[in-house]
Amino acid sequence: MHRRGFLAAGLATALSVPRALAQMKMDGMSNMDSMPGMGGHAGHDMGAMSKGPAPLPEGEALRELSLLANDAGRPGLFRARLTAAPATARFAADRNTPILGYNGMSPGPLIEAHEGDRVEITFANRIEGEPSTIHWHGMPVPADQDGNPMDQVAAGADRVYAFELPEGSAGSYWYHPHPHGRTAEQVYRGLAGAFVVKAKADPVPAAYGDTVLMFTDLRLAADGSMPESDMKDLMNGRVGDHVLVNGQKNPRLAMAMGAKRRLRLYNATNARFLRLAFDGAAMTIIGTDGGLLGKPVAADEILLSPAERVELVVAFDRPGAATLTTLDYDRGWMGPGQPADAGLTLLTVDVSETPAEAMPPLPEQLRPIAPLGQPTVSRRLVFTETMAMNATGMEMGFLINGKAFDMERVDIVARAGQTELWEIVNQADMDHPFHLHGTQFQVVERERSGKVSKPRYLAWKDTVNVARGETVRLLLRQERPGPRMYHCHILEHEQLGMMGIVDVQA
Ligand code: C2O
Ligand code: CU
Ligand code: CU
Repeated sequence: MHRRGFLAAGLATALSVPRALAQMKMDGMSNMDSMPGMGGHAGHDMGAMSKGPAPLPEGEALRELSLLANDAGRPGLFRARLTAAPATARFAADRNTPILGYNGMSPGPLIEAHEGDRVEITFANRIEGEPSTIHWHGMPVPADQDGNPMDQVAAGADRVYAFELPEGSAGSYWYHPHPHGRTAEQVYRGLAGAFVVKAKADPVPAAYGDTVLMFTDLRLAADGSMPESDMKDLMNGRVGDHVLVNGQKNPRLAMAMGAKRRLRLYNATNARFLRLAFDGAAMTIIGTDGGLLGKPVAADEILLSPAERVELVVAFDRPGAATLTTLDYDRGWMGPGQPADAGLTLLTVDVSETPAEAMPPLPEQLRPIAPLGQPTVSRRLVFTETMAMNATGMEMGFLINGKAFDMERVDIVARAGQTELWEIVNQADMDHPFHLHGTQFQVVERERSGKVSKPRYLAWKDTVNVARGETVRLLLRQERPGPRMYHCHILEHEQLGMMGIVDVQA
């Protein structure tokens, strides 16, 4: 039988739980661009697709994300409603795009609450025919409030998510769906929003402002619709044609010379690695996924893999245009269709000649981060990819310790309050950003080709890139009991099996 037939038939199989039959080298697939299902989606209107991506307007004023209003009417409580439903967006000037939105928007509304607050959010799933959940990515919420795939909210149903934000939990979190087998689609169709927990006493001067920049990745067909994912999307993760900031392409921001700005950068794309630099402005890292660092660290560039966040203070000291641009990054792309990563301008800042009012300096100490200390348990998680052919077609497997995700299976049993060392070993041909629910961890070591390196600074993280051939060692402690997911945050890989469950026991 012909390879073509294999591939076309394999697409449907690949979408269900993968079973690996035999190891197959990916190099053999270099002729994939000539096959149906690779360039466009099998069974779709190839004519519309071949006209190329729809152009998007650039240079509009940056929109701040709209804030989710708090209906509680008393201090200490944040109460609101989030409805996931079909909506319409205008990305291209003259075409509507059907999307999924939270409260009609994508990105969803920005949630801002404070340490010590109780949060009660009613989730209404109005996505036709699809279950969903809301997962509070990175947040210290109880397991049964964390939107696990086991706790789906049926189409048409409502549920309340309730949790407290402990002292010391200030950080840049986000929320997105996590239903079994549908996370990748629901996120790229528009469901993701930022959740910022503010500190009671914030060491960063208020004069710097506080702006969320949420990066998403959009693929638009000529008719304005979002094409379905094809084989290369399943393999590499879906990468779009346009990287958007708060839903806009290369928006503009006006700043006075000498001003400093606090920016929270979110990689909310399904699968795009963002290696970023600010041309014409100086970046200082002040925080990571789980909040502020011990002290500020100057940086020339930042690698933000899918789901990672970074908090920056950017100093705009030179008049003229300062641009946030992408640099080349080799994440181990499989087959053809590799996106042009380098040289994208994500944001343009117009710095005026008029000097800003003098800004207070950034303090030298931000907040203490205590090292997690000696682990009592150590675990090893090995990431692999498999490709297999069988009678019905080709199957891809994204595995952890040789297994694809099974919702009925507990992979690890752990104890609450116990410090553990997790060793994440990437034996695959692509980078895989590792993410764990329920807690923040500390990266202690990386190893590649026998070379061991320590991170430049201690930080709280919930997602870390594990490059191909690399081992990342991290320390963590789960404080709350219940089942927690860990997975690759390339959402297509998570969906194709690269996920497991750790059951934390009291
Ligand atoms: Cu961002 Cu399991 O999720
Ligand atoms: Cu998460
Ligand atoms: Cu992956």
